[in-house]
Amino acid sequence: MNRVCEILGIEKPVVQGSMTWITSAELAAAVSNAGGMGILGFNAGQTEMTPDPIETAERMRAEIKKTRALTDKPFAVTYMMPMPGDVFGEPLLNVILEEGMKNIFVLGFGFDPAYEAGVIRGLKEKGLTVLYRAIDANVIGSKMIEEAGADIIVATGADEGGGVSGSNTVMGTFSVVPMIADAVNIPVMAAGGIVDKRTAKAAKALGAEGVYCGTVFIASKECRAAQACKDQIVNSKASDLLQFKDGGNIWRSLPTAAAKRAFDAHINGEGGEAVAKYMNEHGGLCAGQLFGDLENGVNCTSTAIDGIKAVRSCKEIVDDLTEGVEW
Ligand SMILES: Cc1cc2nc3c(=O)[nH]c(=O)nc-3n(C[C@H](O)[C@H](O)[C@H](O)COP(=O)(O)O)c2cc1C
Repeated sequence: MNRVCEILGIEKPVVQGSMTWITSAELAAAVSNAGGMGILGFNAGQTEMTPDPIETAERMRAEIKKTRALTDKPFAVTYMMPMPGDVFGEPLLNVILEEGMKNIFVLGFGFDPAYEAGVIRGLKEKGLTVLYRAIDANVIGSKMIEEAGADIIVATGADEGGGVSGSNTVMGTFSVVPMIADAVNIPVMAAGGIVDKRTAKAAKALGAEGVYCGTVFIASKECRAAQACKDQIVNSKASDLLQFKDGGNIWRSLPTAAAKRAFDAHINGEGGEAVAKYMNEHGGLCAGQLFGDLENGVNCTSTAIDGIKAVRSCKEIVDDLTEGVEW
């Protein structure tokens, strides 16, 4: 029990990170029932997107209700920092409030902290507990987010899976976590490359008060990712990963046919648009991870996959991440 546990109302300071397509009520509830906290991410429980913002929000309402049926423990919903012109944020926030959610996970960008601080202030006025993660974590932004009332900051290093910050200075977890932990007084959770007790202990040593993990939970029994995706993670090494950059982010995928095309486009200097096209033209992350199509899709993971040696239950993963760590 530490500050993160007290703030979120959980037993163990382990949060299952928001991951597009592959989170669901089952995964979030399994992590929460194991004493950590699950998060419903973009497209949680879905197999296709809808362009309708109200329908998107209502689908999340259904997933919240489904999660509640599986656990009486706290969990959170992902709220993307609404940028000018965004039409999805407001209906989703209404659902989050109507459903009486306490904890909200906010995905920020980090490059306009004054604007983002204003959004955080608004969420705090509505009584929400805010867990904030910037794609591009930085000291000035983190201080402003703290001042705005955020409860916890997640500091993410480039060891992470999914989209990695594409800014000029790409920092690893060992650099980002102490930098942010020294800058703010609210608790910091570490993200990026945390998959087992060793890496969790390192996170603690760096100043984190908890761990925020994505990739290791893909390789969990309760994750709805396809078995082929999980098997590829368990059977691969970090040195297998192909790295490429689209317009905004760096991505790393295990070697699917689509990833090889995106990688070649990157190496040949065809530009971010071409890279994004090859990565996503046949379904991208949804095809690779949700449906297990390792030809047409991509399987983006952390660089710490050598530490993932089996598909385990969420309880086994949460227990491992907290074993021997004096949080
Ligand atoms: C496949 C995949 C998809 C992700 N999608 C999202 C997302 O939609 N929103 C978000 O905030 N973070 C996303 N993330 C980042 C995770 O929430 C988390 O920060 C990251 O996985 C931590 O690093 P790790 O993978 O080394 O544990 C994604 C990560 C992965 C692996």
